[in-house]
Amino acid sequence: MTTPSAAPLAYRVTPSTHARTDEARAALLAGDLGFGKHLTDHMVTIDWDAAGGWHDARVHAYGPLSLDPAAAVLHYGQEIFEGIKAYRHADGSIWTFRPRANGERLQRSAARLALPQLPVDEFVESLRQLVAVDHEWVPSAAETSLYFRPFMIATEAFLGVRAAQAAAYHVIASPAGAYFANGVSPVSIWLSQEYARAAKGGTGAAKCGGNYAASLLPQLEARAQGCSQVLFLDPVEGKYLEELGGMNVFLVYADGRIVTPELSGSILDGITRHSILQLARDRGLQVEERKVSLDEWRDGVASGEIVEAFACGTAAVITPIGELKGKDLSIGDANAPAGEVTMAIRKELTDIQYGRLPDRHGWLVRLR
Ligand code: PLP
Ligand code: COI
Repeated sequence: MTTPSAAPLAYRVTPSTHARTDEARAALLAGDLGFGKHLTDHMVTIDWDAAGGWHDARVHAYGPLSLDPAAAVLHYGQEIFEGIKAYRHADGSIWTFRPRANGERLQRSAARLALPQLPVDEFVESLRQLVAVDHEWVPSAAETSLYFRPFMIATEAFLGVRAAQAAAYHVIASPAGAYFANGVSPVSIWLSQEYARAAKGGTGAAKCGGNYAASLLPQLEARAQGCSQVLFLDPVEGKYLEELGGMNVFLVYADGRIVTPELSGSILDGITRHSILQLARDRGLQVEERKVSLDEWRDGVASGEIVEAFACGTAAVITPIGELKGKDLSIGDANAPAGEVTMAIRKELTDIQYGRLPDRHGWLVRLR
């Protein structure tokens, strides 16, 4: 479902009448931000319907949505989302990272979920519009950012099962610190042997809410085992690494190779993953995107061939994996220090994002 190309959308901006005071916002930003706990004062909404395409773009006060109880999203889960951050540089300017890649992924997710495609330029503009009013919410402390959560829902009130004829796109934003409570220390990961998050031909490669709903029960299992994320294996043979509930995964080999599961059709094509592959190549590491079996990981750690593992994503940045646990399985050591290659790539990536290193690949886009 494509949208007819049209002139750029004109925005109506209505400032919130109940925005936090400067003092309240400063106090909140000075505290422990964590991830996803606080939301800014405004949001973006753009409506879509089959007859009129995208229309009525606006920035308005953050607040509850009004939805018909028969809206398709509430019954059939027709929903997609994105995750992307704004970084404040030392001179106060505000930048985001590879936003067109997120806009393109939102389009691919939309195609899979039979939702309308928002033009990529409009995706980038929606972030710019929100930052124009909420720029003071972009924090400046080390390792903090403003996390945007763009999302699209099917709003048509109709209980028949078919692609909805009306949808809404929104962007909300949340000042964020580290995704994991322990910052960048190594995390323990739980191997889900019973559940898959995606199926062959399913929606694993789309960023849709249903994939995350499917990951919540195994995530509870992980928590009960003292682990902070779940690793899923491929849904066909149950043999090869796919990804974590909300992150891609990499292994680092002693001989200078860096390996990540290939895009199988059921894992998310992560933008952090893509950027790490490039930075690793730039460092002269040999990069491999291929099938990686659980046996290879276990045997490689036992033999000393695999020396580091890490998770990556917009929210998690790059987080070292200390240990993989499962029923009758333990790979690695929860107390091992973060790997050197992991931390070097992490530093380079964040130095680029925060403007401390030249942006040699042209990944940054200025928002303000
Ligand atoms: N895999 C899943 C399931 C995710 O939810 C995410 C997060 O967006 C990623 C991987 C990493 O993607 P990105 O690096 O684009 O944030
Ligand atoms: C992200 O990294 O942006 C994600 O969406 C992962 C998770 C928080 C859902």
